[in-house]
Amino acid sequence: MSVVWIDGAGDPRVADYTHLTDVHLRKVREPAEGLYIAESSRVLRRALAAGHRPRSFFLADKWLEGLGDVLEAHPDVPAFVGAPELLEEITGFHLHRGAMAAMHRPAPVPVESLLADARRVAVLEDITDHTNVGAIFRSAAALGVDAVLVTPRCGDPLYRRSIRVSMGTVFQVPWARLDEWPAGVETLRDLGFTVAAMELTEDAVDLDALAARDVERLALVLGTEGAGILPETLDAVDLAVKIPMRAGVDSLNVAAASAVAFWELRAR
Ligand SMILES: C[S@@+](CC[C@H](N)C(=O)[O-])C[C@H]1O[C@@H](n2cnc3c(N)ncnc32)[C@H](O)[C@@H]1O
Repeated sequence: MSVVWIDGAGDPRVADYTHLTDVHLRKVREPAEGLYIAESSRVLRRALAAGHRPRSFFLADKWLEGLGDVLEAHPDVPAFVGAPELLEEITGFHLHRGAMAAMHRPAPVPVESLLADARRVAVLEDITDHTNVGAIFRSAAALGVDAVLVTPRCGDPLYRRSIRVSMGTVFQVPWARLDEWPAGVETLRDLGFTVAAMELTEDAVDLDALAARDVERLALVLGTEGAGILPETLDAVDLAVKIPMRAGVDSLNVAAASAVAFWELRAR
Protein backbone atom coordinates (compact mmCIF):
# COMPACT_ATOMS: atom_id res chain seq x y z
CA MET A 1 0.00 0.00 0.00
CA SER A 2 1.05 3.56 -0.61
CA VAL A 3 0.69 5.45 2.69
CA VAL A 4 1.65 9.13 2.53
CA TRP A 5 1.74 11.16 5.74
CA ILE A 6 0.26 14.62 5.20
CA ASP A 7 2.72 17.46 5.85
CA GLY A 8 0.22 20.07 7.00
CA ALA A 9 -3.09 21.69 6.05
CA GLY A 10 -1.41 23.44 3.10
CA ASP A 11 -0.02 20.21 1.60
CA PRO A 12 -0.82 20.59 -2.14
CA ARG A 13 -1.14 16.81 -2.56
CA VAL A 14 -4.46 16.85 -0.68
CA ALA A 15 -6.04 19.67 -2.73
CA ASP A 16 -8.91 17.32 -3.72
CA TYR A 17 -10.12 17.42 -0.10
CA THR A 18 -10.04 21.17 0.62
CA HIS A 19 -13.11 23.38 1.22
CA LEU A 20 -15.48 20.41 1.28
CA THR A 21 -18.13 22.43 3.11
CA ASP A 22 -18.27 25.09 0.37
CA VAL A 23 -21.17 23.65 -1.66
CA HIS A 24 -20.99 26.31 -4.40
CA LEU A 25 -17.30 25.84 -4.95
CA ARG A 26 -17.43 22.03 -4.87
CA LYS A 27 -20.43 21.90 -7.22
CA VAL A 28 -18.35 23.63 -9.89
CA ARG A 29 -14.97 22.18 -9.03
CA GLU A 30 -15.74 18.48 -8.84
CA PRO A 31 -17.31 17.97 -12.30
CA ALA A 32 -14.75 20.36 -13.86
CA GLU A 33 -11.85 18.42 -12.35
CA GLY A 34 -13.41 15.02 -13.09
CA LEU A 35 -13.64 13.92 -9.49
CA TYR A 36 -16.14 13.25 -6.76
CA ILE A 37 -15.77 12.51 -3.07
CA ALA A 38 -16.83 9.18 -1.58
CA GLU A 39 -17.37 9.96 2.09
CA SER A 40 -17.14 7.15 4.66
CA SER A 41 -15.56 3.76 4.28
CA ARG A 42 -18.94 2.17 3.48
CA VAL A 43 -19.60 4.58 0.60
CA LEU A 44 -16.11 4.26 -0.81
CA ARG A 45 -16.37 0.47 -0.72
CA ARG A 46 -19.66 0.70 -2.63
CA ALA A 47 -18.10 3.02 -5.20
CA LEU A 48 -15.21 0.60 -5.71
CA ALA A 49 -17.63 -2.33 -5.96
CA ALA A 50 -19.43 -0.42 -8.73
CA GLY A 51 -16.14 -0.32 -10.65
CA HIS A 52 -15.28 3.33 -10.00
CA ARG A 53 -11.56 4.19 -9.81
CA PRO A 54 -9.98 5.98 -6.83
CA ARG A 55 -7.58 8.94 -7.28
CA SER A 56 -6.53 8.84 -3.63
CA PHE A 57 -7.68 7.85 -0.16
CA PHE A 58 -7.80 10.20 2.83
CA LEU A 59 -8.04 8.89 6.35
CA ALA A 60 -7.15 9.27 9.99
CA ASP A 61 -4.27 7.11 11.16
CA LYS A 62 -6.52 5.02 13.42
CA TRP A 63 -8.53 3.84 10.37
CA LEU A 64 -5.52 2.43 8.53
CA GLU A 65 -6.14 -1.08 9.78
CA GLY A 66 -9.87 -1.11 9.02
CA LEU A 67 -9.22 -0.07 5.45
CA GLY A 68 -6.13 -2.24 5.00
CA ASP A 69 -7.73 -4.59 2.47
CA VAL A 70 -8.81 -1.67 0.25
CA LEU A 71 -5.41 0.00 0.39
CA GLU A 72 -3.64 -3.27 -0.38
CA ALA A 73 -5.90 -3.82 -3.39
CA HIS A 74 -4.85 -0.37 -4.74
CA PRO A 75 -1.08 -0.22 -4.18
CA ASP A 76 -0.58 2.58 -6.73
CA VAL A 77 -3.19 4.91 -5.23
CA PRO A 78 -1.84 7.24 -2.53
CA ALA A 79 -3.50 6.96 0.89
CA PHE A 80 -3.10 10.32 2.63
CA VAL A 81 -2.98 9.80 6.37
CA GLY A 82 -2.93 12.26 9.26
CA ALA A 83 -4.27 13.03 12.73
CA PRO A 84 -8.06 13.68 12.89
CA GLU A 85 -7.47 17.38 13.75
CA LEU A 86 -5.32 17.87 10.66
CA LEU A 87 -7.89 16.19 8.40
CA GLU A 88 -10.56 18.43 9.90
CA GLU A 89 -8.45 21.52 9.19
CA ILE A 90 -8.17 20.47 5.54
CA THR A 91 -11.78 19.45 4.88
CA GLY A 92 -13.55 21.92 7.18
CA PHE A 93 -15.46 19.33 9.19
CA HIS A 94 -14.91 16.41 11.54
CA LEU A 95 -14.58 13.11 9.74
CA HIS A 96 -16.90 10.91 11.80
CA ARG A 97 -16.80 8.08 9.37
CA GLY A 98 -13.08 7.61 9.31
CA ALA A 99 -12.13 7.67 5.67
CA MET A 100 -12.82 9.28 2.32
CA ALA A 101 -11.71 8.80 -1.23
CA ALA A 102 -11.39 11.17 -4.14
CA MET A 103 -12.76 9.16 -7.05
CA HIS A 104 -12.51 9.58 -10.81
CA ARG A 105 -15.90 10.44 -12.29
CA PRO A 106 -16.97 7.66 -14.66
CA ALA A 107 -16.93 8.69 -18.31
CA PRO A 108 -20.36 9.89 -19.48
CA VAL A 109 -22.46 7.30 -21.29
CA PRO A 110 -24.35 8.48 -24.40
CA VAL A 111 -28.07 8.75 -23.69
CA GLU A 112 -28.97 6.37 -26.53
CA SER A 113 -26.88 3.52 -25.08
CA LEU A 114 -27.95 4.29 -21.53
CA LEU A 115 -31.59 3.91 -22.50
CA ALA A 116 -31.18 1.01 -24.95
CA ASP A 117 -33.21 -1.48 -22.88
CA ALA A 118 -34.89 0.93 -20.47
CA ARG A 119 -38.66 0.90 -20.03
CA ARG A 120 -38.91 3.34 -17.13
CA VAL A 121 -36.83 6.53 -17.01
CA ALA A 122 -36.93 9.47 -14.60
CA VAL A 123 -35.89 12.94 -15.75
CA LEU A 124 -34.88 15.32 -12.95
CA GLU A 125 -35.61 18.83 -14.21
CA ASP A 126 -33.45 21.45 -12.45
CA ILE A 127 -33.78 19.80 -9.02
CA THR A 128 -31.22 21.73 -7.02
CA ASP A 129 -31.56 20.19 -3.57
CA HIS A 130 -29.03 17.36 -3.25
CA THR A 131 -31.19 15.68 -0.61
CA ASN A 132 -34.03 15.40 -3.11
CA VAL A 133 -31.66 14.19 -5.85
CA GLY A 134 -30.35 11.45 -3.56
CA ALA A 135 -33.80 10.45 -2.31
CA ILE A 136 -35.13 10.15 -5.88
CA PHE A 137 -32.22 7.88 -6.85
CA ARG A 138 -32.92 5.67 -3.84
CA SER A 139 -36.56 5.30 -4.88
CA ALA A 140 -35.56 4.79 -8.52
CA ALA A 141 -33.28 1.90 -7.56
CA ALA A 142 -35.78 0.36 -5.17
CA LEU A 143 -38.82 0.67 -7.42
CA GLY A 144 -37.42 -0.50 -10.74
CA VAL A 145 -36.59 2.69 -12.66
CA ASP A 146 -34.04 1.65 -15.28
CA ALA A 147 -32.21 4.96 -15.74
CA VAL A 148 -32.20 8.58 -14.59
CA LEU A 149 -31.51 11.65 -16.73
CA VAL A 150 -30.65 14.98 -15.16
CA THR A 151 -31.11 18.32 -16.92
CA PRO A 152 -28.17 20.73 -17.37
CA ARG A 153 -29.13 22.78 -14.27
CA CYS A 154 -29.97 19.84 -12.00
CA GLY A 155 -27.88 19.14 -8.87
CA ASP A 156 -25.04 16.65 -9.06
CA PRO A 157 -25.95 13.02 -8.23
CA LEU A 158 -22.29 12.50 -7.26
CA TYR A 159 -22.21 15.39 -4.81
CA ARG A 160 -21.42 14.09 -1.27
CA ARG A 161 -24.90 14.70 0.10
CA SER A 162 -26.69 13.13 -2.89
CA ILE A 163 -24.54 10.03 -2.56
CA ARG A 164 -25.19 9.76 1.16
CA VAL A 165 -28.96 10.26 0.93
CA SER A 166 -29.16 7.86 -2.02
CA MET A 167 -27.48 5.18 0.15
CA GLY A 168 -25.01 4.67 -2.68
CA THR A 169 -27.69 3.92 -5.28
CA VAL A 170 -26.26 6.70 -7.49
CA PHE A 171 -23.54 4.12 -8.26
CA GLN A 172 -26.11 1.53 -9.18
CA VAL A 173 -28.74 3.29 -11.31
CA PRO A 174 -27.40 4.22 -14.77
CA TRP A 175 -27.65 7.99 -15.23
CA ALA A 176 -26.53 10.76 -17.54
CA ARG A 177 -26.71 14.54 -17.78
CA LEU A 178 -28.62 15.84 -20.78
CA ASP A 179 -26.90 18.54 -22.86
CA GLU A 180 -30.13 20.30 -23.71
CA TRP A 181 -33.48 20.62 -22.06
CA PRO A 182 -36.37 20.67 -22.89
CA ALA A 183 -34.98 19.82 -26.35
CA GLY A 184 -34.22 16.40 -24.83
CA VAL A 185 -37.97 15.63 -24.81
CA GLU A 186 -37.75 15.12 -28.57
CA THR A 187 -34.77 12.77 -28.17
CA LEU A 188 -36.77 10.68 -25.72
CA ARG A 189 -39.73 10.58 -28.06
CA ASP A 190 -37.49 9.53 -30.96
CA LEU A 191 -36.34 6.64 -28.79
CA GLY A 192 -39.94 5.50 -28.41
CA PHE A 193 -40.71 6.96 -24.99
CA THR A 194 -43.99 8.52 -23.98
CA VAL A 195 -42.87 11.59 -22.02
CA ALA A 196 -45.05 12.53 -19.04
CA ALA A 197 -44.46 15.54 -16.78
CA MET A 198 -45.46 15.13 -13.15
CA GLU A 199 -47.34 18.31 -12.37
CA LEU A 200 -50.67 19.44 -10.94
CA THR A 201 -51.96 21.16 -14.08
CA GLU A 202 -55.60 21.59 -15.13
CA ASP A 203 -55.30 19.00 -17.88
CA ALA A 204 -53.12 16.49 -15.97
CA VAL A 205 -54.40 12.92 -15.99
CA ASP A 206 -54.58 11.03 -12.71
CA LEU A 207 -51.72 8.67 -11.95
CA ASP A 208 -54.13 5.71 -11.89
CA ALA A 209 -55.34 6.51 -15.39
CA LEU A 210 -51.79 6.60 -16.77
CA ALA A 211 -50.92 3.35 -14.98
CA ALA A 212 -53.95 1.68 -16.60
CA ARG A 213 -52.57 2.55 -20.06
CA ASP A 214 -49.62 0.25 -19.40
CA VAL A 215 -47.25 2.34 -21.56
CA GLU A 216 -44.34 0.31 -22.95
CA ARG A 217 -41.61 2.96 -22.57
CA LEU A 218 -42.24 5.84 -20.19
CA ALA A 219 -40.09 8.85 -19.24
CA LEU A 220 -41.37 10.68 -16.19
CA VAL A 221 -40.23 14.28 -15.70
CA LEU A 222 -40.02 15.58 -12.12
CA GLY A 223 -40.05 19.31 -11.50
CA THR A 224 -38.01 21.67 -9.42
CA GLU A 225 -38.82 22.36 -5.77
CA GLY A 226 -40.07 25.91 -6.21
CA ALA A 227 -41.81 26.57 -9.49
CA GLY A 228 -42.33 23.00 -10.63
CA ILE A 229 -42.07 21.90 -14.28
CA LEU A 230 -41.02 24.65 -16.71
CA PRO A 231 -43.88 25.94 -18.94
CA GLU A 232 -41.84 25.12 -22.07
CA THR A 233 -41.44 21.54 -20.85
CA LEU A 234 -45.20 21.26 -20.28
CA ASP A 235 -45.65 22.39 -23.90
CA ALA A 236 -43.18 19.82 -25.17
CA VAL A 237 -44.23 16.65 -23.31
CA ASP A 238 -46.95 14.19 -24.35
CA LEU A 239 -49.00 14.66 -21.20
CA ALA A 240 -49.01 15.85 -17.62
CA VAL A 241 -49.80 13.45 -14.80
CA LYS A 242 -50.83 14.20 -11.23
CA ILE A 243 -51.24 12.50 -7.91
CA PRO A 244 -54.57 13.97 -6.76
CA MET A 245 -54.13 15.88 -3.50
CA ARG A 246 -56.52 15.86 -0.55
CA ALA A 247 -57.16 17.94 2.54
CA GLY A 248 -56.16 21.21 0.91
CA VAL A 249 -52.52 20.15 0.48
CA ASP A 250 -50.92 21.91 -2.51
CA SER A 251 -48.35 19.33 -3.53
CA LEU A 252 -45.96 16.67 -2.32
CA ASN A 253 -42.24 17.01 -1.88
CA VAL A 254 -40.74 15.99 -5.24
CA ALA A 255 -38.94 12.95 -3.82
CA ALA A 256 -42.14 11.71 -2.16
CA ALA A 257 -44.05 12.26 -5.42
CA SER A 258 -41.39 10.30 -7.31
CA ALA A 259 -41.71 7.28 -5.02
CA VAL A 260 -45.48 7.14 -5.40
CA ALA A 261 -45.25 7.48 -9.18
CA PHE A 262 -42.37 5.02 -9.68
CA TRP A 263 -44.35 2.35 -7.86
CA GLU A 264 -47.65 3.01 -9.57
CA LEU A 265 -46.13 3.28 -13.05
CA ARG A 266 -43.72 0.35 -12.74
CA ALA A 267 -43.24 -1.82 -15.82
CA ARG A 268 -45.38 -4.95 -15.51
C1 LIG B 1 -43.14 20.74 -4.69
S1 LIG B 1 -43.54 20.49 -6.30
C2 LIG B 1 -43.41 22.10 -7.05
C3 LIG B 1 -44.39 23.05 -6.60
C4 LIG B 1 -45.73 22.95 -7.26
N1 LIG B 1 -45.70 23.29 -8.67
C5 LIG B 1 -46.69 23.85 -6.53
O1 LIG B 1 -46.93 24.95 -7.05
O2 LIG B 1 -47.12 23.46 -5.46
C6 LIG B 1 -42.15 19.78 -7.05
C7 LIG B 1 -42.45 18.73 -8.06
O3 LIG B 1 -42.93 17.58 -7.41
C8 LIG B 1 -43.82 16.87 -8.26
N2 LIG B 1 -45.12 16.79 -7.56
C9 LIG B 1 -45.37 17.17 -6.30
N3 LIG B 1 -46.63 16.89 -5.96
C10 LIG B 1 -47.21 16.34 -7.06
C11 LIG B 1 -48.50 15.81 -7.33
N4 LIG B 1 -49.45 15.82 -6.42
N5 LIG B 1 -48.73 15.32 -8.57
C12 LIG B 1 -47.76 15.29 -9.49
N6 LIG B 1 -46.52 15.75 -9.28
C13 LIG B 1 -46.23 16.27 -8.08
C14 LIG B 1 -43.90 17.65 -9.55
O4 LIG B 1 -42.99 17.12 -10.48
C15 LIG B 1 -43.48 19.04 -9.10
O5 LIG B 1 -42.97 19.79 -10.18
